[in-house]
Amino acid sequence: MALRLGDEAPNFTAESTDGTIQFHEWLGDGWGVLFSHPKDFTPVCTTELGRVAALKGDFAKRNVKVIGLSVDPLDDHRAWAGDIEETQGHALNFPLIADPERKVADLYDMIHPNANDTLTVRSVFVIGPDKKVKLSITYPASTGRNFDEILRVIDSLQLTAKHQVATPVDWRDGDDVIIVPSLSDEDAKKKFPNGWKTVKPYLRVTAQPKS
Ligand code: BEZ
Repeated sequence: MALRLGDEAPNFTAESTDGTIQFHEWLGDGWGVLFSHPKDFTPVCTTELGRVAALKGDFAKRNVKVIGLSVDPLDDHRAWAGDIEETQGHALNFPLIADPERKVADLYDMIHPNANDTLTVRSVFVIGPDKKVKLSITYPASTGRNFDEILRVIDSLQLTAKHQVATPVDWRDGDDVIIVPSLSDEDAKKKFPNGWKTVKPYLRVTAQPKS
């Protein structure tokens, strides 16, 4: 069955470009992004992996580790890494799992047979420090992902995990946020002493809480 939000992210042991990975141990106490790409030595995937390498510092400052995966073997991953550095200007600086037996791909339902019965689609899982799935998104092979959007969602997930707020459409870090409807005005006064704007009784807008 497909993984759902709130499910525990399945643990696994797999070979990667950084050696053997025990997934939960590798995640440690922080956040993680596990993403699949369809195939090594393909154009869109090459641009995606270069972009993720460029954003490594942005993930790290949010306490997020990133790990990629495809069903290609380790030798291909290693050979392809040179092309990524040459063409995208960023060397691979995060592990790429080699999953030729599709063990991890099956655990995470990354192969969608009606799209392609052998290759992984472009899956993304954001996993919280409690090892639960906080976000999953799936793109087809023909569409490269927007990893700035993944960072934006992580900002929202980390903020809403700490404070009783939600983030509105197109929210970006620093923008106003929404007080969750389950919080009474009385309790909101304690949590948001600087107040809020009531647009509707269910739509209360306040400044983003400081971390
Ligand atoms: C690509 O990364 O360009 C790609 C991979 C598999 C199918 C289609 C495109």
